[in-house]
Amino acid sequence: RTPWRGIIKEYYEFFPVTEKTPIITLLEGNTPLVRVNNLTKKLNMDIELYLKFDGANPTGSFKDRGMTLAISKAVEEGSRAVICASTGNTSASASAYAARAGIKAIVLIPEGKIATGKLVQAMIHGAVVIQIKGNFDQALDIVRAIVKEYPITLVNSINPYRIEGQKSAAFEVCDQLGYAPDYHALPVGNAGNISAYWKGYKEYKEKGRITTLPKMLGFQAAGAAPIVLGRPVDKPETIATAIRIGNPASWKTAVQARDESGGKIDIVTDEEILKAYKMIASYEGIFCEPASAASVAGVIKLYNQGYFKKDSTVVCTLTGNGLKDPDTVFKVADEPHILPANLDNVKAFMEKIL
Ligand code: F0G
Repeated sequence: RTPWRGIIKEYYEFFPVTEKTPIITLLEGNTPLVRVNNLTKKLNMDIELYLKFDGANPTGSFKDRGMTLAISKAVEEGSRAVICASTGNTSASASAYAARAGIKAIVLIPEGKIATGKLVQAMIHGAVVIQIKGNFDQALDIVRAIVKEYPITLVNSINPYRIEGQKSAAFEVCDQLGYAPDYHALPVGNAGNISAYWKGYKEYKEKGRITTLPKMLGFQAAGAAPIVLGRPVDKPETIATAIRIGNPASWKTAVQARDESGGKIDIVTDEEILKAYKMIASYEGIFCEPASAASVAGVIKLYNQGYFKKDSTVVCTLTGNGLKDPDTVFKVADEPHILPANLDNVKAFMEKIL
């Protein structure tokens, strides 16, 4: 068996690469697609639910799929530095892949509004980390202006190679299931990933690898739901900081994905997100970050409205690893028990809980 070679080599013919492209990879992709039964049983849901755990990528998020291609093409084009605005995961991934390529990464993040694990990733990989006193949308406006004046490659998802790379997740889902799911659910922030999956599914169908297409389901946090509201949100707010975005760059293509597939983009509240986040971890043993749980929260919401046909195959992408955001755990999980270091006390405690 040949070992996994990273998404560019595994799906070579689907990407704009040649022999001249230096492939910068951390062997991203090939993430688990896990059938979950505990959650659906507890909630009495008669659908076949799968979680695509993209938190298992090298830097802990789906961004690595896009970053391997964006950084490879940047190096091919002679770039010595890359820049991005980020709610945390893009900056972590860009920093890691730039380190691997031996080029500079500059990342702009909203001060105080990114999960600790993501901040320290950018720092340890040696990126130039700029915290701006503002939100993601403002940071993205700034980097868009910067790249017009300086010879630096933008690696946000407005860089088309990001979307190209991220479509590999749709290919994997089809390869792992053996067919396309009926529905595919994702959290929506800057709206690149839902656009990438839809592109991936369509290309796989054109190539004859699948015969049907899923309906695309996107979920925005209630306080950061510009696409659902139909207008930008000036001051987006949500506990799911990864998707705290008020004016998504890929707005149009996300709406296209929704409409062409006959799917839906809807809202989930922070409360629904945290409930799903805790259930995925405690019922299934999968630790994702809060934003990722928006996909599952959304499927639960739509299920309860009678949206799904019985026995539909539904895939939810868990976009990022829960380890990135330990602070949210302290808000939702039970506190550890503190006992004196003596056997009798621990035994007395055991009697109570067993
Ligand atoms: N889930 C996670 C964990 C994310 O980090 C993001 C986006 C999304 C979902 C939404 O994906 O933007 O393609 O709609 N994070 C970006 C970042 C914005 O900077 O890391 P999207």
